[in-house]
Amino acid sequence: MAVRFASVFLGAALALSASPLFAADAKPSVVIYATGGTIAGSSASSTDTTDYDAGKLGIETLIKAVPELSQVATVTGEQLANMPSQDMDQKTLLKLSKMINEKFKDPAVHGVVVTHGTDTLEETAFFLDLTVNSKKPVVIVGAMRPATAVGADGPMNLLEAVSLAANDKANGRGTMVVLNDRISSAFYATKTNSTTPDTFRAAEQGYLGGFVGITPRFYYSPAIPTGKMSFDVSKEESLPKVVILYSYQDQDSALLDAAIKDGAKGIVIAGMGNGSIPTRTKATVKKLMEQGIPVIRSTRTGSGFVSKKEEGIGSGFFSPQKSRILLSLALASGADMAAIERYFGMVE
Ligand code: SIN
Repeated sequence: MAVRFASVFLGAALALSASPLFAADAKPSVVIYATGGTIAGSSASSTDTTDYDAGKLGIETLIKAVPELSQVATVTGEQLANMPSQDMDQKTLLKLSKMINEKFKDPAVHGVVVTHGTDTLEETAFFLDLTVNSKKPVVIVGAMRPATAVGADGPMNLLEAVSLAANDKANGRGTMVVLNDRISSAFYATKTNSTTPDTFRAAEQGYLGGFVGITPRFYYSPAIPTGKMSFDVSKEESLPKVVILYSYQDQDSALLDAAIKDGAKGIVIAGMGNGSIPTRTKATVKKLMEQGIPVIRSTRTGSGFVSKKEEGIGSGFFSPQKSRILLSLALASGADMAAIERYFGMVE
């Protein structure tokens, strides 16, 4: 297995370096940043779809496995990381966002694709949606079956993602998620199923479009989500720590206090229903807010709007994991409590 991949790697590297970027008949130029995940996953068994190693194959191997990519784009690949997405961190997110913003300054680059593990794909996608300041398309793609599995979904997902990033109709739509022949907005999409390929959805907002063959077909013209915010992270080296606490019957304030002692600058609560939290925790939440430490009440229900209440800021339509990203970016930008409330209120 190792030898086979080594020769594939070499062949792909030669093919990549030999392909001219600006030939007269050149296809749109698309850059793929690889970060790992199941799309780069490998197992000794072709029926193993649950116990494989994520983040094993390099970007050259992924590109070489899909020669059809050259039909839709002139592709180059860069290996940013090769990890399971559970290990993705803010340092890598900042690096990725800066690399994409820099890359988009090159007028020859049409779009960017990021390969990523699906477990935290929605967090990276949301981060990029809020921090890449360009109308050019960013497409983030993963797979639910490793590259070695029967019926691996990665190759087709990658081909569709590149086809989307190369397409003019993808401009001005922010960061998009591609899996299972569907295109979702990174602003709203979330992983909804632990094992099946149709996992990415936005329960209330739906899909932006899908693929007919490998051609993207959008349902609507480009639109910006209501109240969409954007942040400049070009000078950030790190982001303020924000933690998520899960609500349940019998919850008390112990973990809220522990989070602050541990250096959290903001807290997101995955609350019950419309962001409800137990009565016995409300005094602590109020105290933290008065001390200037924002507490966002999101919902553990999986969808819906969390409205403002006396204790804590409602998360709007943002899930706990998206709320954590947004609050961290807001704090890094120096936003005060009123600005943070506006961001989560999601009004224009
Ligand atoms: C991961 O998120 O890295 C593993 C799971 C996946 O990619 O589907």
